[in-house]
Amino acid sequence: MASENIIIINGNEFSFESGETILEVARRNNVDIPTLCHLKGATPTGACRVCVVEVEGARSLVASCAAPAANNMVVRTESGKVIEARRMVLQLLLSSGNHNCAVCGTGGSNWTEFQLHVQQMDNSSELCPVWGDCRLQDLAFRYQVTGENFDATQTPYLMETANPFIVRDFSRCIQCGRCVQACNEIQVNQAIHFGYRGAATKIIAAGDRPYINSDCVFCGECLQVCPVGALVEKDGRYNVRPWETQKVRTTCSYCGVGCQLYLHVKDNTVVKIDGVEDVAPNFGSLCVKGRFGYDFIHSPERLSSPLIKENGKFREVSWEEALDLVAARFGEIKAEHGSDSIGVFSSARITNEENYVAQKFTRAVLKTNNIDHCARL
Ligand code: SF4
Ligand code: SF4
Ligand code: SF4
Ligand code: FES
Repeated sequence: MASENIIIINGNEFSFESGETILEVARRNNVDIPTLCHLKGATPTGACRVCVVEVEGARSLVASCAAPAANNMVVRTESGKVIEARRMVLQLLLSSGNHNCAVCGTGGSNWTEFQLHVQQMDNSSELCPVWGDCRLQDLAFRYQVTGENFDATQTPYLMETANPFIVRDFSRCIQCGRCVQACNEIQVNQAIHFGYRGAATKIIAAGDRPYINSDCVFCGECLQVCPVGALVEKDGRYNVRPWETQKVRTTCSYCGVGCQLYLHVKDNTVVKIDGVEDVAPNFGSLCVKGRFGYDFIHSPERLSSPLIKENGKFREVSWEEALDLVAARFGEIKAEHGSDSIGVFSSARITNEENYVAQKFTRAVLKTNNIDHCARL
């Protein structure tokens, strides 16, 4: 008797849970199927058709991100037909909009002209800011295609820079819809949607207003999921290339949730932050502070030594002098008013270990139980 819930992918049998898509079964078993529009945790839309596979008995190629696995289904993920379809999809995407990276214009003769043209359009002195960190570019290399086979279509929409965090470059948008799903289904902010129709289609906020005049809360989820250079951090744009940075994993220090994030570090300076995907508690999502609030790290206004206020003015002092003064004053207050006249507030922005030390110091040294924490205030 045939076993239940078995799918055959590229000649190998895999079991699957009811409801799993072909893509999910493939990924779970390390079979690589490329995707562009697919966003884990969101409803599959089947918008880009990059993930198509051949299913025996099906009349046409099937979008594996949206098609459920079925018992005894026979799937081929890299057949000639599949590769031909993916190449076509990629060529069409590359020819729509401004994709001024190495994947366009391999004709040689028009390469320089093309680059100059797109740089002028972009009002920049360099190639696309995400060159080297772009899913479309990766796939173009993988399937060895360019946008040259089709007439290039340009977007009528101007770049939007009217906010401090995110540049929206509609000329590079491939309308995969990941940003819309991220905003609506993952963050549930419902700030952006598809607007207009046909060639005029655009991702819009608040009836086509800039992000800054919409319900956008600048969580940056859309930016993190955009597979191309259509949504880019404003600060790092053109200042940093992905291969120049080191990714350092850490825990966000803004609140007690403990979101996991990557600091992108160049020359000992944090130049970008994104969420670590697939790990708790945030699974890649961040809030505006965690994602964009890092300029304080290198601010020249940060205190670098203790200050003592004397006659209304601050004086820089050594740690020894500062701690001696604090210890002496605590001693005086305790002697005069008793231990319970002192209270200590610690912070959700420090580690558990530091909070432990704060309460130990309060109870064992100051001899009071007056200790609390900003997360409860
Ligand atoms: S978005 Fe990607 S494919 Fe388009 S120009 Fe930039 S790097 Fe190239
Ligand atoms: S930044 Fe956040 S709220 Fe704003 S459009 Fe992007 S996902 Fe939506
Ligand atoms: S902005 Fe990015 S994520 Fe949104 S539809 Fe365009 S390409 Fe896709
Ligand atoms: S990834 Fe499946 S259709 Fe886009």
